Amino acid sequence: MSAKSGSEDGSSDDGHVAVVRFLQGAKLLGQTKLISGETIVEHAESAGVKIPTNCTSGTCGTCMVTLIEGKVDLPEILPPGLDDYLVERCARLGCIGVPLNDVDVDIRPPL
Ligand code: FES
Repeated sequence: MSAKSGSEDGSSDDGHVAVVRFLQGAKLLGQTKLISGETIVEHAESAGVKIPTNCTSGTCGTCMVTLIEGKVDLPEILPPGLDDYLVERCARLGCIGVPLNDVDVDIRPPL
């Protein structure tokens, strides 16, 4: 194994600490540093922001949020709680979506 780039606390080699921010419209509700592998909902808890959940497995869509900025990967096969129409509108599921860098999320679904 070689030296890892980036780290689990979200800081990268240049010292930048990635941050996940939660907004409702223009209002910043909270923010927390990125913890790699944690979901949007887990980051929201750390930031003191409540995102409602139900199934926590990508099925029901209760936790749907809107990705404003940054990268949250989607599974190759979309889970039942998302479809192409929603993805085109930047919908992500908080219970399974894992932020990969600096991310801004509106805690409301895109519709
Ligand atoms: S809580 Fe059901 S899709 Fe996330």
